[in-house]
Amino acid sequence: MKNILVIIAHPKRESLTNAMATTYIAEAVKDGSSVETLDLYHSKVQQPFFSYDDANTLETTDEMRFFQEKIEKADELIFFFPFWWGGMPAILKNFIDWNFSKGFAFTYEDSRPKGLLQSKKVKVFTTSGAPKMFYFFTGASRRLKYTIKEQIVEFCGMEMRGFYHYGGVDASGNNSKAILADVKKRV
Ligand SMILES: Cc1cc2nc3c(=O)[nH]c(=O)nc-3n(C[C@H](O)[C@H](O)[C@H](O)COP(=O)(O)O)c2cc1C
Repeated sequence: MKNILVIIAHPKRESLTNAMATTYIAEAVKDGSSVETLDLYHSKVQQPFFSYDDANTLETTDEMRFFQEKIEKADELIFFFPFWWGGMPAILKNFIDWNFSKGFAFTYEDSRPKGLLQSKKVKVFTTSGAPKMFYFFTGASRRLKYTIKEQIVEFCGMEMRGFYHYGGVDASGNNSKAILADVKKRV
């Protein structure tokens, strides 16, 4: 049985991003996985903007412990967020700044970084207002994918299993059905 941690970074519960996560969770549970969800905007545990006096002596706070226990337990981390200003929403970046900390997610050996979250798999689901084709040609989608894959996922020793970008998402919701059907196939 797989332990899956679904991490959602969208302020609106009725968003397509949340509907995508709900679809994924239902399918994963059907497959026999155990799923835990972290809805960052609505979590009872919140973290202020990341700051420190000395990064090397950063102490593990209760909030970090809360999130890191969930990350530790998971075989797979599945992220859902809207594409904002070419990247992830600040709340998700803040989550990573705090909780993928030195000594937990990575360390240094002989001055070289070593990932500590070995054997965990990651999938990323993101939506943009701009059409997918547009971001394919400008390279925006690829830049985000490789920033997450190389600078976060692989740096921490994890494996990127999928990056799914759905474009042309607007208030009309006219492509939501097709997007949800695709998400279902990615479990
Ligand atoms: C703060 C903010 C920044 C955004 N930046 C972008 C962007 O850089 N590119 C883009 O295509 N859409 C951008 N959008 C639009 C969102 O990506 C789009 O509304 C979202 O993917 C729709 O998903 P939802 O229905 O789950 O909200 C932005 C929206 C907000 C609120």
